[in-house]
Amino acid sequence: MSTPEAAVTAAPVRTAHHRHYLMCKPSHFTVNYSINPWMEPANPTDTANAVAQWQKLYDLYVELGHEVELIEPLAGYPDMVYTANGGFVIDGRAYVPSFYYEQRQGEAPAFAEWFRTHGYDTVLPEEINEGEGDFLLAGDVILAGTGFRSAGDSHREVSEVFGREVVTLTLVDPRFYHLDTALTVLDPVVEEGQTAGIAYLPHAFDEASQKVLAERFPDAILVSDEDGAVFGLNSASDGYNVIISPRAKGFEAQLRERGYNPLLIDLSELLLGGGGIKCCTLELRDAK
Ligand code: ARG
Repeated sequence: MSTPEAAVTAAPVRTAHHRHYLMCKPSHFTVNYSINPWMEPANPTDTANAVAQWQKLYDLYVELGHEVELIEPLAGYPDMVYTANGGFVIDGRAYVPSFYYEQRQGEAPAFAEWFRTHGYDTVLPEEINEGEGDFLLAGDVILAGTGFRSAGDSHREVSEVFGREVVTLTLVDPRFYHLDTALTVLDPVVEEGQTAGIAYLPHAFDEASQKVLAERFPDAILVSDEDGAVFGLNSASDGYNVIISPRAKGFEAQLRERGYNPLLIDLSELLLGGGGIKCCTLELRDAK
């Protein structure tokens, strides 16, 4: 065992990178249907509290120097606050979602329209996919989740749209129904020849996917079931600052050991809809 001092000196120096995000104020947030195990329509929700908690995340991004765009919330679409599902954007090209559940399908045209009017090369999908909820860019490769929402065929489609390698990962635990609930990319910018730092919850994946992850990312942070269960992995990183749930204590310590700077934001109200920090954040990777 190394001493705490040794661990601190051994931690790599991390750099914060400027990020561009799309968010949606939860003005119409409620839980009046259930499409994931977290959603219980019988339990009360507090829209004002959702807005207040969300505002803290928004303010923190701005304070960190990031640029945050807003899309107008649509009445009747309480899940629109989870903008991660609104698309997947690389180099100024936006791949539009096609939601699995009917309750969210009306969000897709609104996101497509937002991308178009903001100058993104907007690609309409043929396959069922839920955007950055299931697609995460790790260095050059796209990690793609399936099992609950995005269809396997969307992995081929997303690979064609962006001309990149796609690594399929199969989710097996219904609580972790989107890839971004079970895996997070810590280094949004990766030097050539380097591997992106990631963290994940091994048990959320089938055995074959666990093997793929272990082989490709031998240095990944493996989080405990306890931290996974409070959506600790549903986090947003700029390469140095990592915004996580205050309940993910073990993950917080793991991040510090690796030289990251965990910042805590409580989105307990939005967890009633089965979403957290990352779900409320869509990364806009603009054309260079
Ligand atoms: N209630 C939403 C749904 O089930 C939550 C989406 C969470 N988003 C995410 N990127 N994991 O679709």
